[in-house]
Amino acid sequence: MSGRVQLQQDDRYRLLFEPMRIGPVTAPNRFYQVPHCTGMGYARPHTLAAMRGMKAEGGWGVVCTEYCSIHPNSDAGGFHFASLWDDDDIRAMGHTADSIHAHGAIAGLELWHGGSSAANLLSREPTLGVRSMPSHDGPIQSHPMDKADIRNLRKWHRDAALRAKAAGFDIIYVYPTHGYLLHEFLSRSLNGRSDEYGGNLENRVRLVRELIEETRDVVGGTCAVAVRMSANGHGKDHLDETEAHDMMEMLGQMPDLWDMVISDYEEEMATSRFGSEGGLEKYMSYVRSLTGKPVVTVGRFTSPDTMVSQIKNGITDFIGAARPSIADPFLPTKIREGRLEDIRECIGCNICYAQDNMSAPLRCTQNPTMGEEWRRGWHPEKVKKDGEGSVLVVGAGPAGLEAAHILGRRGFDVAVVDAQNHAGGRVTRESKLPGLAEWVRVRDYRMGQISALENVSLYLGSLMTARDIMDYGADQIILATGAKWRADGTGRWHSAPVKSFTHAAVYTPDDIMDGRLPRGRVVIFDDDHYYMAPVLAEALVKAGAKITYVCTAASVCSWGENTQEQFSSQARLIELGVELVLSKAVAEFDGEKVRACCIYTDHETEIAADALVLVTSREPNNGLYRDLLNLGCDETRVSTIGDCHQPSIIAAAIYAGHRVARELGNADPAPVLRERVVPARQTKTA
Ligand SMILES: Cc1cc2nc3c(=O)[nH]c(=O)nc-3n(C[C@H](O)[C@H](O)[C@H](O)COP(=O)(O)O)c2cc1C
Ligand code: SF4
Repeated sequence: MSGRVQLQQDDRYRLLFEPMRIGPVTAPNRFYQVPHCTGMGYARPHTLAAMRGMKAEGGWGVVCTEYCSIHPNSDAGGFHFASLWDDDDIRAMGHTADSIHAHGAIAGLELWHGGSSAANLLSREPTLGVRSMPSHDGPIQSHPMDKADIRNLRKWHRDAALRAKAAGFDIIYVYPTHGYLLHEFLSRSLNGRSDEYGGNLENRVRLVRELIEETRDVVGGTCAVAVRMSANGHGKDHLDETEAHDMMEMLGQMPDLWDMVISDYEEEMATSRFGSEGGLEKYMSYVRSLTGKPVVTVGRFTSPDTMVSQIKNGITDFIGAARPSIADPFLPTKIREGRLEDIRECIGCNICYAQDNMSAPLRCTQNPTMGEEWRRGWHPEKVKKDGEGSVLVVGAGPAGLEAAHILGRRGFDVAVVDAQNHAGGRVTRESKLPGLAEWVRVRDYRMGQISALENVSLYLGSLMTARDIMDYGADQIILATGAKWRADGTGRWHSAPVKSFTHAAVYTPDDIMDGRLPRGRVVIFDDDHYYMAPVLAEALVKAGAKITYVCTAASVCSWGENTQEQFSSQARLIELGVELVLSKAVAEFDGEKVRACCIYTDHETEIAADALVLVTSREPNNGLYRDLLNLGCDETRVSTIGDCHQPSIIAAAIYAGHRVARELGNADPAPVLRERVVPARQTKTA
């Protein structure tokens, strides 16, 4: 890795590496990658297998799939979900099981029927539900299941379990939570049936019990049967906490393992703004007392001390992780080898989930190789040492630090300079805003890695002009100089600067991060639709300002629907007493009031305001690039990366830094592989 001496396994963490029995199978250790979607699924089997295999190589003892549809009667439309519908799927999923086994881990598969939530946009099969309910994906309702439908479902589940076994999986899930079909059956309010599947808890649990029994019947002895369930039920109208406990008592001994989550998905995978490591413990602590079977819990675990205490305190047997395994597939290995400083800790931004939510292959802010294992052949820990010559990286923000780190590992002689007295660029600045403290891990991981590389030097507080850069004489120049927030209102809504925004009481996020705070009645104009404006509102309320939040979207942090933080963001502002003015744009400001326009009509509103904060868009800091070209610098010698090339999310900056560093000097980088079906050409013979 970084050339540091490898330490012996730390006795404090030995417990984490004990083999653990799960019914008929044995996990090599307690590191359990719980089911998580990938945006790969049935459509990208090579990408999926390589990614899961990487987790196994990195030491995860159990590696699970994403939710896996049991039958065309349940599809997730445009999302690339996994499926086990037929023999082709056995081959495709078998590829994933094989790549997990190749590294000594065992493979789990989460069988799934989406119930009313699935609109079946691909298969066009009528969706099934415990009663007729609207789907998430449009004006489509499910068909209420009769006894024949229940019999069919049980057969589909059995057949899919057999296919999972044939594909080589070791742990097969029954999945009665997260709002899907079995959750509907458990729900007091949704399940209005008068037969043996409705009414009291015992009846509502019947289908889950049958599926556990039948899965055991067909795969038991060879495969373990796991149940993924919510520890605190599904809310008071569906399955309250007492009923969840009763259900655990009823079924406690039946599966070989309990994988526990909680009722609120946004809390279960809370961003670091809204939840911290181990934050779900309060819900989970009773579970082990109701079952003699091994328990897995989650909680964005990245600290080995927390992991050990979870086990020692009797909360869990396995350390379940989705995001920590995405951010660092080698987390278990690093703990085993005592290389804690090499752990790339998840920052809780949920960009991984956003990708999947937008039907794109998984990506991660901290781990730029995520999803690129097969496509580009990138390994999260291995970099070819083939670099020769010198590189000057201007800018020590996320892109610059990542580039310097990988270039250093490749063997280039690297100098990183930054005009600021601190490294980290935007992550250092933004991490001081409310709830974003963990983002500084982006900087700290890279600084830690760079500090161990003798061929990388860092110079802070060094403002360089284009002439200075030319005089420095590095073989290659990489500009990673970031972007600044626009102060003229240009963005999605205003395509050109707004005249009245030149007023002295107009502020940008950069002003606020620099400590220049607006006072009194402050209007924040959010045309960005992500975290920045709500976070600033929170900061300014804490500083004593009275905030009105005006947004061109219909909700606070609307892009946060992808990162599972929209709801919490809006709730937070309401709780803080921020006045919300939605679907409106600020058109004018005169130092005393803003004029806001409805985005649908010509209706105008006046809002009293002493100051206006504009969160609209950013301007790339690319002046140095132009200056260098004007001085005659060869275009092939200089590149721009990250926000100074294209303002975007932090994940994009890290990726750009990683990519430029992998590709520098490779005239012909490996082609990017694509998974697609190319039909054989039907050529006519004469
Ligand atoms: C990208 C992503 C996709 C997920 N997909 C699934 C899924 O397919 N099935 C499931 O049961 N849970 C899914 N989850 C929830 C995780 O399994 C897990 O319970 C949650 O992320 C909390 O664990 P963590 O803090 O270790 O990330 C997903 C989570 C993430 C981040
Ligand atoms: S994208 Fe963010 S939340 Fe997801 S694993 Fe990476 S660092 Fe963690």
